[in-house]
Amino acid sequence: MSNNMRKILVTAALPYANGPLHLGHMVEYIQPDIWVRFQRLIGNTCHFVCGDDAHGTPIMLRAEKENMTPEALIAKSYTEHTADLEAFNISFDNFYTTHSPENKALATEIYQKLLAGSDITKRTIKQAFDPIKNLFLPDRYVKGECPKCGAQDQYGDSCEQCGATYSPIELKNPISVISGATPIEKESEHYFFCLDHYEAFLKEWTKNGHLQPEVTKKLAEWFTSGLQQWDISRDAPYFGFEIPNAPGKYFYVWLDAPIGYMASFKNLCNKNSTLSFEEYWSKDSATELYHFIGKDIVYFHALFWPAVLTASGFRTPTNIFVHGFLTINGQKMSKSRGTFINARTYLDHLNPEYLRYYFASKLGTGIDDIDFHMEDFVARINSDLVGKLVNIASRCAGFITT
Ligand code: MSP
Ligand code: ZN
Repeated sequence: MSNNMRKILVTAALPYANGPLHLGHMVEYIQPDIWVRFQRLIGNTCHFVCGDDAHGTPIMLRAEKENMTPEALIAKSYTEHTADLEAFNISFDNFYTTHSPENKALATEIYQKLLAGSDITKRTIKQAFDPIKNLFLPDRYVKGECPKCGAQDQYGDSCEQCGATYSPIELKNPISVISGATPIEKESEHYFFCLDHYEAFLKEWTKNGHLQPEVTKKLAEWFTSGLQQWDISRDAPYFGFEIPNAPGKYFYVWLDAPIGYMASFKNLCNKNSTLSFEEYWSKDSATELYHFIGKDIVYFHALFWPAVLTASGFRTPTNIFVHGFLTINGQKMSKSRGTFINARTYLDHLNPEYLRYYFASKLGTGIDDIDFHMEDFVARINSDLVGKLVNIASRCAGFITT
């Protein structure tokens, strides 16, 4: 083994544990899988970890709707997800879950370091509250008329008609999506991570070759409006980890989700004594760390995450590789239009290698959307895989017998 062999840790974004994987997810897992297999082929050490993202309000509510406990729902998702990922030949070294003792310990440790570094502040805020369900409502669980243009049936965070962004309590005639009740405004104390303390660090970090140029450009917009403190707490009832010394307050799912990358690796180390957690995560680590993600979650990975890691004394990512969204025949995946394809539905009918090849042929370094065009897909598989690759093999096979 040559001594310039690299040591690499790769992660793929953790799928939510509230439903089955679809073909968009398969872009997320096939892209890094190809990259990882290449690294291993050329002799580098490359660990590939992932897991289910098991916390948050949507999981809690979905479980309730299906008459199960959140624990039972995430166990069911775990079984389905691992079966699909295996069928698509994704070569994870570990597929774990954020609802784990390792993740709880790491999230607590990181939070305590943030506290000790004076990077946590508390403040009372007003939020939409469902008086029937007795629940604070995430933005997407409030609908109403846009305060700017008056469009009906808009979500509580932004208007699909005019693009305005606002908070749910600004909507006109708001309703709770869960109960249909009119939300009231209610005060509660929240915990914030002082992202603003890391503005200088992040301005530098996001420009230093850790990101694709399009991503750096996108992030520049956020710096112009100034970095806001990040709300990392949610009130009970919530499915997640309770914040130490804060009864009834839970870590927001997006705080412990990326920590889930560390926890999955930690769990792998627990199973394999030749691996060292510190070697890969300590501040002075000589190893490389890459996160593969979709373009919708850049904010969490390229701003909050490097800041949280720095603030708690861990290493930061070497690079974050962002991909675009999968469309089907040029359209956004949609259940009502019949363009929503689950990974399992594909597997019931077609060979997973076809999809791996098709995505490989379309993915590059950019963040443009990728289209799964059915006719193009059939043509590519027939001409490239069957016509060229299999044809060569079948012609050569003739020489063996003569
Ligand atoms: N749970 C979060 C990620 C936490 S990472 C610490 C999440 N989950 S997700 O299930 O919604 O998405 C998982 C990954 O799949 C994300 O990278 C997301 O961008 C990607 N995709 C989801 N739909 C997609 C497409 N239609 N096309 C391509 N990727 C898509 O976000
Ligand atoms: Zn509007």
